[in-house]
Amino acid sequence: MAQSKIRFPLILINYKTFREATGRGAVRIASLAEEASRKTGVCFAVAPQATDLRLVAMSVEIPVFSQHVDPVGQGQFTGHIPPEAVVDAGCVGTLISHSERPLGLEAIEATVRRAREVGLIPVVCADSVWKAEAVASFKPDVIAIEPPELIGTGIPVSRARPEVVSGGVQAIKGLEKDIRVLCGAGISKGEDVSAALRLGAEGVLLASGVVRAADPLRVLLELAEGAKAVSS
Ligand code: G3P
Repeated sequence: MAQSKIRFPLILINYKTFREATGRGAVRIASLAEEASRKTGVCFAVAPQATDLRLVAMSVEIPVFSQHVDPVGQGQFTGHIPPEAVVDAGCVGTLISHSERPLGLEAIEATVRRAREVGLIPVVCADSVWKAEAVASFKPDVIAIEPPELIGTGIPVSRARPEVVSGGVQAIKGLEKDIRVLCGAGISKGEDVSAALRLGAEGVLLASGVVRAADPLRVLLELAEGAKAVSS
């Protein structure tokens, strides 16, 4: 099963298009995540920009995700990201329908199917419990719940909107018990990760708290300790 390429609790770092995580920066953050993973035993994964996927996947052993794929084949499609190319670049999975790259339900379903076909782990993002329930029927391996209004604020979803995390977990598991659930938005501290796991999440999806940190390794180690405090 594709999920065996990752372990839970999972800490997945989305690079977005942050300058600090572009080119050499993309490799730097991934190497620090790998170091944190080695030191703590916690599974870290990274989602660099499409242009850096191969470089990062060749530079580290930790799982690499794309931020997006298009449900197209290989051939006459210009300007798309075909899932096959993402596999070829060394990725194990892909985010789908992040709130900064949203897709309609039909496109989400098609993208999950195409990701599956090529062996990529689909991580579908949902901005509400309602959306999470809707995408659960497509049976992605993972759903990440992120209330968009908290993204980039430093106010953790696990503290500000605990009911979205616990309600999302309950709703998803009630429909498809094997889907793994992450939460994200505003996560930057170990205690945010602990709170997320206590609410039933099986990991976190985060960006600015690591990518823009003055000392990303310190933050990564703290996040891992937060995960271990609950999961061990
Ligand atoms: O995909 C993760 C993201 O949207 C959360 O962003 O910066 O609040 O951790 P951030």
